Amino acid sequence: MSPMLAGWRTAVEQTLDEQLAAVANPHLRAAMVYSVEAGGKRLRPLLLLSVVAMYDGVIADALPAAAALEYVHTYSLIHDDLPAMDDDDLRRGKPTNHKQFGEALAILAGDALLTDAFAILSREYPEKGAACVQILAEAAGSNGMVGGQVLDMDGENEQYHLETLKRMHEAKTGALIQAAIAMGGLFVTIPETDQTALADFSAAFGLGFQIKDDINDVTKTTAELGKTADKDVIEHKNTFPELLGLDGAIQALQVEIAKAETALNELTVDAAPLAEILAVLKA
Ligand code: IPE
Ligand code: IPE
Ligand code: MG
Ligand code: MG
Ligand code: MG
Repeated sequence: MSPMLAGWRTAVEQTLDEQLAAVANPHLRAAMVYSVEAGGKRLRPLLLLSVVAMYDGVIADALPAAAALEYVHTYSLIHDDLPAMDDDDLRRGKPTNHKQFGEALAILAGDALLTDAFAILSREYPEKGAACVQILAEAAGSNGMVGGQVLDMDGENEQYHLETLKRMHEAKTGALIQAAIAMGGLFVTIPETDQTALADFSAAFGLGFQIKDDINDVTKTTAELGKTADKDVIEHKNTFPELLGLDGAIQALQVEIAKAETALNELTVDAAPLAEILAVLKA
């Protein structure tokens, strides 16, 4: 990671620490801290901060928004791992939240992260708070991440067509990634042509990110992933490798990477931070 992104990452970690320190109940705080500080890649906060930096915004101003976004993402992982959902034992290289704290506290830690995210946004941003909340809530809610998770669940005994599979990926994973870019845009002024290109970038990166996640389940070990590969748990019919074969999935990923790169080349500013983040899809 470049020194610039590493620096932002450190700042995000510090902001997360500060926000978590405000949780009064020690039992709940321990469960929240456990998953937030288990060492995720922090890609969504880094996407948000990249946009802020590329258009000469102030990184420090955007840190609470970046932390709120990571809260919502971490909640989605805790709930995604629950026995009623993917029933996974390992996340971010550690036992899943419910394995460590029990199901009830894991559910509540997720609830708290989700709810506190919106408290952070409304408290920290008296002026742009409502706009931040709207972007994040719409991305996380019924027509975003949660809606995508329901499509995933409903598809367990049904083979989706490619269009539905894409729609599922765009919702369950793409929406929060698109929200990261859009929230970053609230802190800066972006020319209209760049807004279109950034939206194109985040749509391609978001879809590509879940295709890559599905490919990793087939090509990487649990130890490499730090989480249980989905194939170990249930037979996921609705993944790109299942539908298109591994080569077809890799090709589909290349298409999204190319779209994302084209979008970055259209920008009027230096897109180095976003290009660096896009490279995770090539690893
Ligand atoms: C995992 O997201 C869940 C998906 C949307 C595929 P990440 O791969 O960003 O997970 P962390 O945050 O690094 O643990
Ligand atoms: C779910 O996708 C993404 C979320 C909305 C949490 P997966 O179920 O494939 O995510 P992982 O592989 O468990 O991280
Ligand atoms: Mg899942
Ligand atoms: Mg899962
Ligand atoms: Mg997965």
